[in-house]
Amino acid sequence: MSPTGVTDPRWWRHAVIYQVYVRSFADGDGDGIGDLPGIRSRLDHLARLGVDALWITPFYPSPMADGGYDVADYRDVDPTFGTLDDARGLVADAHALGLRVIVDIVPNHTSAAHPWFQQALTAAPGSPERGRYLFRPGRGDGPPNDWESVFGGPAWTRVEDGEWYLHLFDSSQPDVDWSTPEVRTEYLAVLRFWLDLGVDGFRIDVAHGLVKAEGLPDAGDSDQHGVADTQRLPYFDQEGVHEIYRSWRAVLDSYSPPRVAVAEAWTRDAARTARYVRPDELHQAFNFHYLRADWSAAGLRAVIVDTLAATSPVGAPATWVLSNHDVQRHVTRYGDGPLGLRRARAALLLTLALPGSVYLYQGEELGLPEVLDLPESALQDPIWRRSGFTERGRDGCRVPIPWTREGSALGFGPTGSRPWLPQPEGWSDLSVQAQTGDPASLLELYRTALRLRRDVTPEADLEWLESGPELLVFRHGNLGCAVNFGATAQVTVSGPLLLTSEQCEVDGVKLLLPQDTAAWWSIP
Ligand code: NOJ
Repeated sequence: MSPTGVTDPRWWRHAVIYQVYVRSFADGDGDGIGDLPGIRSRLDHLARLGVDALWITPFYPSPMADGGYDVADYRDVDPTFGTLDDARGLVADAHALGLRVIVDIVPNHTSAAHPWFQQALTAAPGSPERGRYLFRPGRGDGPPNDWESVFGGPAWTRVEDGEWYLHLFDSSQPDVDWSTPEVRTEYLAVLRFWLDLGVDGFRIDVAHGLVKAEGLPDAGDSDQHGVADTQRLPYFDQEGVHEIYRSWRAVLDSYSPPRVAVAEAWTRDAARTARYVRPDELHQAFNFHYLRADWSAAGLRAVIVDTLAATSPVGAPATWVLSNHDVQRHVTRYGDGPLGLRRARAALLLTLALPGSVYLYQGEELGLPEVLDLPESALQDPIWRRSGFTERGRDGCRVPIPWTREGSALGFGPTGSRPWLPQPEGWSDLSVQAQTGDPASLLELYRTALRLRRDVTPEADLEWLESGPELLVFRHGNLGCAVNFGATAQVTVSGPLLLTSEQCEVDGVKLLLPQDTAAWWSIP
């Protein structure tokens, strides 16, 4: 049972939430694809790891053009992943272990296979069926404006009668029109459906994209996704999204205990992200600025300072995330091989020491690297096709988890099954089984750090302690943390050492911290 107990309504403010990418976590029926029964069979791993909740990526009926982020029915389970009863059973099992369950909601677009879009295709221009999406006449022979799909190519596709529809992602993911009242009502009903089934909250896909600028003006840039970090685009982070989340908050608050929501909102800076977590809006937003920071003391310090400065005035907890199913795994980003692993160990202690809530991505506790050499024939991410086969996309961070040393699927599925993406040679040594009980393993470091984190004063402020430019040293309540990015440095610790990411020499209060190493000590 989680120490916070399943009734603590503020659990999310300092929770550690583990992301389950359903297709790649555990395969219960041997078809090579992860599923809900598979997750149920591995919940003990999450309980033993010591997380508070799991967030499960979409498992709804879908043609799987974008790994399930193309939803054809918001109130059911895709047969590949199981049944609604499996979903109920999963929630019950998780709750019995003290784990909460967050599910994904995808409100920016449906699948083209959704009945609404099928009706829109057969209805006439100007009809209410088309009004649930963004159908427009073209400009001359071309699309209505210059918007680009996040996955490459134009964001518009033409239908037989000459109108175009908007899709910020794949052409099989048409954007819905949030100015249509029926759209708003429908998604509120979908929220209630899953809340009534017992889930503890939602992760909101493309939370910054639902509302488009009035009149759908040109973006005016030929590299829209290259500038998305610095400029505001007419289809992202528009003012109108906030009113939607206020109405969602009212629904979440109407349950007892209140349920929570986390926004996937890519914005220019921490201040824009904080607008999604104002007191009457969402509870959390992923901190992608932290994920994007390079491995450097200055870069990480700046993000931490900005994040805390932006979240504290709105009273929301900060969140910290290093990896997810859309980005290169951080072991690889931080230098790959032994260097990347060493930095990932230090990054874990840094991340878990910060005030607020932490999101982990399945497999990071095993130190899984990005798989950079998947055979082209195995690639499924729509980015591969839409980029004209020039960008391999995100499959490299979605390779199925190795659970055991042996077996054709390393325990991901039953013996004899073949995972939907091949697991590299050597992943047997990274398996949960291989790392369990090895005190030098990353998995055991995660388990120890998560256990110790439970004793850290929740809701305490972060206080920077004096250090050189290559060091981050701070106090968070009763926890001291130092991370060294430069040559070996001496750090003064003001209490007993709790944990280090590598072996360190310590002499009384003097700790010798090698490069790319982090330490925790307790402050009485
Ligand atoms: C963000 C999701 O994380 C990603 O996997 C998906 O492709 C897009 N949204 C579109 O739904």
